[in-house]
Amino acid sequence: MGGTGFIGRHAAARLVARGHDVTVLTRARHRNRGLLVLPTLRLVDGDPFDPGTLAAAMLGADAVVNLVGVINETRRGGGFRHVHVELVEHAISAALEVGVSRFIQVSALKARRDGPSAYLRTKGDAERKVQDSSLAWTILQPSVVFGPEDDFSIRLARLLRLVPALPLTRPNVRIAPVFVGDVAEAVVRVIETPGAIGNSYQLCGPRVYSLRELVTLIGRVAGTPRPVLGLPETMAKLLAHLMEFIPGKPFSRDNYLTLSVHNICDSDAPGLRALGISPTGLETGLRRYMGSGDDG
Ligand SMILES: NC(=O)c1ccc[n+]([C@@H]2O[C@H](COP(=O)([O-])OP(=O)(O)OC[C@H]3O[C@@H](n4cnc5c(N)ncnc54)[C@H](OP(=O)(O)O)[C@@H]3O)[C@@H](O)[C@H]2O)c1
Repeated sequence: MGGTGFIGRHAAARLVARGHDVTVLTRARHRNRGLLVLPTLRLVDGDPFDPGTLAAAMLGADAVVNLVGVINETRRGGGFRHVHVELVEHAISAALEVGVSRFIQVSALKARRDGPSAYLRTKGDAERKVQDSSLAWTILQPSVVFGPEDDFSIRLARLLRLVPALPLTRPNVRIAPVFVGDVAEAVVRVIETPGAIGNSYQLCGPRVYSLRELVTLIGRVAGTPRPVLGLPETMAKLLAHLMEFIPGKPFSRDNYLTLSVHNICDSDAPGLRALGISPTGLETGLRRYMGSGDDG
């Protein structure tokens, strides 16, 4: 589930490359036919909320990976609780029904049932559902994920092209961006590692940046360096509210609340290295797919 998304496409490609048969369930098969170039991938059309669809897609599988998530609520059935929690309840029932015991839940760093935003709270609730189930679960909690076609660096680079300076909410929040290839590899490794059952992994890149540093770096690598202006809290909240009315909702009050906690891994938590993965640095990763400007 969620195998057509940004992380899902990378995870599917790695699983196929490693010799696994992969089934991807999507509500829009026609838009995701590109995935069919992967030789052992089956693309199944259907809404995971439809009774029977999920169980049918899971039938015969060794493991289920849940990569479904929304960063903002959408009007058409895309509420946080519905997408994050109810779908997980449904997926757990379907997995138990067809006898698939291995379940990988891709959550988010700082997901907590008492988190500051609905995004983090519902991610936390979903984790608890998975942990309380009788499934052989593993939870992955990535920080902000970057990579080709991501929602973060690419969108920011486009925005920076359009503006003389960027007003920024929460400029001092700290983030440890993790490369999508490393997250995809973590999905593969936990599936292949029986010792990962019952464990949660925090996935971070090797360096911590403030949001201000991140935006500055992305502008530099993309060849559009711009001054970054930290906004006072009242202005930031107002901007978050106004941006909810822009088509595609590029930012929201809930995103603003999510940014009230540092998105960095705990020093003692198992992460990429525990899975034998050496994290890719942001600058190396960005230059691989975005580089055009000043390298300094
Ligand atoms: N990207 C990040 O920086 C980041 C950071 C931390 C955690 N995460 C988490 O990692 C997971 C994957 O993220 P991503 O960036 O790959 O997400 P994405 O590109 O937005 O893809 C989301 C996937 O969820 C499915 N989906 C969305 N809304 C749905 C709905 N209402 N009902 C059923 N399916 C729905 C979509 O499938 P179809 O449209 O094909 O049906 C799509 O494949 C998510 O849970 C996300 O919260 C991501």
